[in-house]
Amino acid sequence: MIDALKRKGIILAGGKGTRLSPITLGVSKQLVPIYNKPMIYYPLTTLMWAGITEFLIISMPDDITYFKRLLGNGSKFGITIEYASQEKPNGLAQAFVIGADFIGESNVALALGDNLFHGQELVSKLRMANSRKVGATIFAYQVKDPKRYGVVEFNKEGKVISIEEKPENPKGNHAVVGLYYYPNSVVNIAKKITPSKRGELEITSINNEYLKRGELEVEIMGQGFTWLDAGTNESLIEASNYIKTIEARQGLKVACLEIIAYKMGYISKVQLLELAKLHGNSSYGEYLIQRSKEF
Ligand code: DAU
Repeated sequence: MIDALKRKGIILAGGKGTRLSPITLGVSKQLVPIYNKPMIYYPLTTLMWAGITEFLIISMPDDITYFKRLLGNGSKFGITIEYASQEKPNGLAQAFVIGADFIGESNVALALGDNLFHGQELVSKLRMANSRKVGATIFAYQVKDPKRYGVVEFNKEGKVISIEEKPENPKGNHAVVGLYYYPNSVVNIAKKITPSKRGELEITSINNEYLKRGELEVEIMGQGFTWLDAGTNESLIEASNYIKTIEARQGLKVACLEIIAYKMGYISKVQLLELAKLHGNSSYGEYLIQRSKEF
């Protein structure tokens, strides 16, 4: 019998990262640091907090080696990680076509490899989306420059009227963030959609299909949340400064893969200390040792 709540996670870490060139001529964008850890740690830990343990990382063929070197098959973190390549950035929705075998009969969550989420209520929001048995859940966040994003239009009652991808004249200021929860039907929907005018298989086409079916939940991420995407030099440094400020103030690291694996019960304290050794005498390694004393 299929567990109706079983959900796998996909992290889309492809694309050429051209807006970060020349940095991305030598390294995948999602391996570039946000302050003190690789960018992919942020979306990966976001999905781990939601209770997901089976992952597929999709990246450009040449980059897979480096993701594997960093994360392996996930076993050291008590999770599983598989890899698949996307030859060209044909659009976000292609993740579900490439990932069809991995998804199998499960539900799925997709996180964009360059999106960072932070906030007090984040974990409960994610777990709620994770446990929803029917329909799709996406999240909307108020931004000053909605034109750059998928934009949700709400009516006065807060009902969703439309979702448009990068509209010239946005019908609202709520952007769709790069974190999507779908039922298994997303695979068939993704197989049927056609490229947009800009030649991409748009995630917005998928969201519109669920909207049409009356199966789309749009959760607002309010002012207590931080959502950043790190696709440009400017946003990369902003994201790094944000993490640096929070970590310095609290003395706690954000998106610390090893600590989250421990707190979720995926690894033991002994395993946590083994992982700490991999970081030599870096402040990251010292942090893992120091935190493990609290547990
Ligand atoms: O960040 C949220 C936005 O992400 C949403 O509001 C939009 O609706 C959605 O289309 C998307 O817009 P972007 O223009 O920001 O997507 P971008 O092309 O920058 O791709 C996002 C990430 O996904 C980036 O890290 C590269 C990766 N990617 C992108 C495409 C198109 C892939 O791995 N494969 C792809 O085919």
